[in-house]
Amino acid sequence: MIYVIEGTQWGDEGKGKITDYLGQKMDIIVRHQGGNNAGHTIVIGEDKFALSALPSGIVNPNITNVIASGVVLNISQLIRELTMVKEKGLPFKLLISNRAHIIMPYHVDLDGAYEGLLSKHKIGTTKKGIGPCYQDKAARRGIRVGDLLEPSYLKERLASCLLIKNMELKLFGKEIYDFNSLYKKLIQYGELLKPYITDTSKFLNKAIKENKNILFEGAQGSMLCLNYGTYPYVTSSSPLANSVPLNAGIPPKSIDKVIGIMKAYTTRVGEGPFVTELHDKTANLIRTRGHEYGTVTRRPRRVGYLDLMVVKHTVELSGMDSVAIMLLDVLTGVKDLNVCVGYKLDGQEIDYIPSTIKELERVVPIYRSFPSWHEDITKVRNYDDLPKEAKEYIEFIESFLGVPACLISVGPERNDTIIKHDLF
Ligand code: GDP
Ligand code: IMO
Ligand code: MG
Repeated sequence: MIYVIEGTQWGDEGKGKITDYLGQKMDIIVRHQGGNNAGHTIVIGEDKFALSALPSGIVNPNITNVIASGVVLNISQLIRELTMVKEKGLPFKLLISNRAHIIMPYHVDLDGAYEGLLSKHKIGTTKKGIGPCYQDKAARRGIRVGDLLEPSYLKERLASCLLIKNMELKLFGKEIYDFNSLYKKLIQYGELLKPYITDTSKFLNKAIKENKNILFEGAQGSMLCLNYGTYPYVTSSSPLANSVPLNAGIPPKSIDKVIGIMKAYTTRVGEGPFVTELHDKTANLIRTRGHEYGTVTRRPRRVGYLDLMVVKHTVELSGMDSVAIMLLDVLTGVKDLNVCVGYKLDGQEIDYIPSTIKELERVVPIYRSFPSWHEDITKVRNYDDLPKEAKEYIEFIESFLGVPACLISVGPERNDTIIKHDLF
């Protein structure tokens, strides 16, 4: 069976936890897009893993982890994470696509330079070089992982790419890169990564024919999708399940189930419209309780009520089969529990997400309020044992979205999970 996990909001929905949780039944876990802008936290007993380049299955020695062609790879970050995994004494299986693009140090510099120049109009990126790397991919100026194994070709590629990049860096008054030292570094990277580099599309298609269980792990959330998110305040790839076949080089019809991951409320990091954003005591309570600080940048996450218009938009786009409702425990005791069930634009109710930022900024949320619950739910493992108010909240979400909730998460650990509908 082929499963896809997709964040339904603006990221940090708890994809890492669910990937790890479902991973227990998987043969293969694949990262298909994004780069080390992602921050996925996995908690297993005393151990906490913060991963941004490696797939979330790396902590499970039985799983083959794949970094597919749609990913942009920061190799020094990958090596740091691999070292951490090795230090824990964990054996791992990893494959890296020869077609994945490399985030070069100049991409990181340029990300910072663009953001600095835009100042108050900045995107609020993670400054990890994601945008500039995808930009070069589209402009056919990228360097791919497979190029590292072809020294003479790499030399040619790097020379022509650096010509343009150094010119751009000079414009920003930034330091330029020396060809020889950068080339030497890339050759070293190639030697280090050689055992892992392969045609991952071939590997995945064979695995599909052999009926392996494969999980595609999304990075970011659908509202950060370059095509359907809150453009231009988005990332430079598409986290939608729709992009998996292309990013991984597998047939579209091979996907069996798409699982949406949603927080029981909403958060966002970086700039851009956020219809249900709160700036009050409730926001502070949720931020503190949910530890809502970026895994990658440590920025405090913006916090708001659950916006079901957003989740419905992404459920529809990807044809999700079910949703996992995360961090429900954080809402315990929150008074005035509201959920956004509609949008009003210039006084008219609308049933879509406006495409422009200006319209989105004018949207007024229509709220429905829910009674709160006060019991500690972190130890609950059976759905029926949840307080009736929590069940009412969950069942409303299901009926609004028109898809069932497969699981409810009530804490960060693997086992802090309630199965509502079995996925297997
Ligand atoms: P991802 O980017 O979607 O993988 O999510 P992150 O790992 O960036 O952020 C989710 C955070 O919530 C992490 O710190 C998780 O350990 C934590 N978490 C996940 N599920 C739950 C839950 O049900 N309750 C609580 N309290 N924390 C959770
Ligand atoms: P995970 O996988 C939350 C946001 C950034 C910024 C915008 C563009 O942990 O859910 P970029 O560096 O990608 O060019 O920044 O996207 N962003 C994320 N926000 N979680 C993430 O990943 C994110 N990855 C990027 O904050 O607003
Ligand atoms: Mg995250």
